[in-house]
Amino acid sequence: MNLRKASSSWLEVSVVTSPEAAEAAAAQLVELVPGWAEERVDGGVRLVAWLPCDPVSRRCVETLRRRIRQLAAWGLGPGVGQVRVRTVPGQPWETAWRRHFRPFRVGRFLVRPPWARHRRDAGAVVLVLNPGMAFGTGLHESTRLCLRVLPELVRRGARVFDVGTGSGILAIAAAKLGARVVAVDCDRLACEIARANARANRVSDRVAVRCGDLFGPVRGRADVVLMNITAEVLLRAVPLVGRYLRPGGAWVVSGMVAGNAGSVLEAAGAHGLRVERRLRDGEWRAAVLRAAGGRSRAAPAG
Ligand SMILES: C[S@@+](CC[C@H](N)C(=O)[O-])C[C@H]1O[C@@H](n2cnc3c(N)ncnc32)[C@H](O)[C@@H]1O
Repeated sequence: MNLRKASSSWLEVSVVTSPEAAEAAAAQLVELVPGWAEERVDGGVRLVAWLPCDPVSRRCVETLRRRIRQLAAWGLGPGVGQVRVRTVPGQPWETAWRRHFRPFRVGRFLVRPPWARHRRDAGAVVLVLNPGMAFGTGLHESTRLCLRVLPELVRRGARVFDVGTGSGILAIAAAKLGARVVAVDCDRLACEIARANARANRVSDRVAVRCGDLFGPVRGRADVVLMNITAEVLLRAVPLVGRYLRPGGAWVVSGMVAGNAGSVLEAAGAHGLRVERRLRDGEWRAAVLRAAGGRSRAAPAG
């Protein structure tokens, strides 16, 4: 991660699962380590990722172990498998990461890892994010959907809440468009990472990162609330979000899939939020919802 010193060795984290449990296990892995590989092994699937060998990664691994145990308790049974960790020499893995993660455009944003050079790209807003850290490098469809709509919604001087900030990518993107952001995550490690990323992107003065559940740590109302989480958490947020949005404010919801987006949008409609735009990328769904009332007075982002 960009906040960590270059590693001379890496942690190879792997989970061997049954084919039925692979998707659920991969969903847990991708929240903590967005870049991972999948390979077929005898009768199952092996998911493998590499993390820098340091205390932050070790805490990631403990979280992953806890989550995988939870999956087993939820009925996916022994097929979910065990998290195995071993230390491997740094150079081959490091170069593998570096080869794999190249700068890429998402709408107006250019996402690049800290080590990559990139050609000047007039008009691109650059986000420096390291793929070896918490969820939110922009590689995931649910993050990309949010990044695509941000420039239309976030105006200079706007107030933004990013609930479930992960690596802080959406909060940093909003801050680079001129917003003042409160970024929330219930995971302390994610908060640490988001703060470090805000510093690396020189927007710490505009991004306040707070640890807590949903809107617990925020005060007042925002022009835009961003939430790339899961349908279950979005449903919990539906009855609350109106208290945190200014009249005419936008709520961006992402992290839903085709099978559960309808229930979130229906519940939001019942709480007076109008669906302004639906977005999709593969099986992933997102939407922009609008609170009743006037539009934000902030000027458009330049
Ligand atoms: C899918 S990641 C999104 C990260 C980033 N915002 C992005 O768009 O790539 C969801 C994040 O929400 C956090 N989260 C889940 N439930 C939460 C809750 N109830 N309150 C606050 N954060 C939560 C998780 O810890 C995780 O970092």
